[in-house]
Amino acid sequence: MLIKRKSGIEIPSSEITPERLYSTRRQFIRGAGAIAAGSIMAACRPERPPAATVEPAAQTTGGESAGTNEVASAARTDELGDALNTLEDISSYNNYYEFTTDKEGVKGLAKDFKTDPWSIEISGLVNNPGTYDMGDLLTKFDQEERIYRLRCVEAWSMVIPWDGFPLAKLLKEVDPTSNAKYVRFETLADPEQMPGLSSPWYNWPYVEGLTIEEAMNDLTLMATGIYGQSLLPQNGAPVRLVVPWKYGFKSIKSIVKIELTDEQPTSLWMAAAPTEYGFYSNVNPEVNHPRWSQASERRIGEFSRRETLKFNGYEEQVAYLYDGLDLRQNF
Ligand code: MTE
Repeated sequence: MLIKRKSGIEIPSSEITPERLYSTRRQFIRGAGAIAAGSIMAACRPERPPAATVEPAAQTTGGESAGTNEVASAARTDELGDALNTLEDISSYNNYYEFTTDKEGVKGLAKDFKTDPWSIEISGLVNNPGTYDMGDLLTKFDQEERIYRLRCVEAWSMVIPWDGFPLAKLLKEVDPTSNAKYVRFETLADPEQMPGLSSPWYNWPYVEGLTIEEAMNDLTLMATGIYGQSLLPQNGAPVRLVVPWKYGFKSIKSIVKIELTDEQPTSLWMAAAPTEYGFYSNVNPEVNHPRWSQASERRIGEFSRRETLKFNGYEEQVAYLYDGLDLRQNF
């Protein structure tokens, strides 16, 4: 796995992937995806997090054992010195409304989710539209590890070691035209597999959007793994977006379509509760959610709250994207 220095974020030597993780990842790459509003946003309110640390051997969420990865994670931190969450944390407390709004119920309902074959159709204002299957995505683009903080709009957070590649690399391949201003993403909507789709409260499929400048920022990741193993269904297998300076709901899971457009996409959350969820959704401790404060957060695994950082601590890398924009109005 290639480890790179990214946009001024120092990657300490302690984060360099151990050989075992590297091997696991190579196996996965060879297998190419074989592993396989008020009450409206019911789950988007602060809830009690699960117990934090679980012994490696207790990892039973499917896929490969997390044992060695958990050991490897023990001394690892993000660039701010914050400890990584365990795979147990990351794979047991999830938001994936296509399955259920019960965070601890997602992994059970999603365990047989079919992720192979899988492809992403890229269309719209691009010179080279096309369909990329998982083999393409895993072999065309070097997979690298990125340790990012994930800050949910519900005011909980985790530190997650993702594997993946910058979205910018994929966008350069499809070559957006000069009219392309936004990128629209869509999740699979398969009622046979996703019981949550029967909920009438949401305008399925799950849709999210970014400006093209946000999409091209080097932090914006197409994630294909966590802790050196393929993504688990509950985390958005086989490929999802991760936009670490925005609230977690922008990080759309299990993507099947990407479209370049000249109109701002309306996300599922904007449609469901327009006064609560805007297009930008940048992490901002100065702008509260209408129903709760965003000034602090609960890191899963910690007991006391910690202050929320502007742009989730990535201000240096992304503040330029919003020069001249009123972040209160453009929430
Ligand atoms: N993507 C889809 N398709 N459906 C969802 O319900 N939930 C979002 C985001 N992506 C969601 C989604 C929310 S609210 C959060 S906080 C993150 O996924 C949670 O990611 P995680 O479960 O991997 O921690």
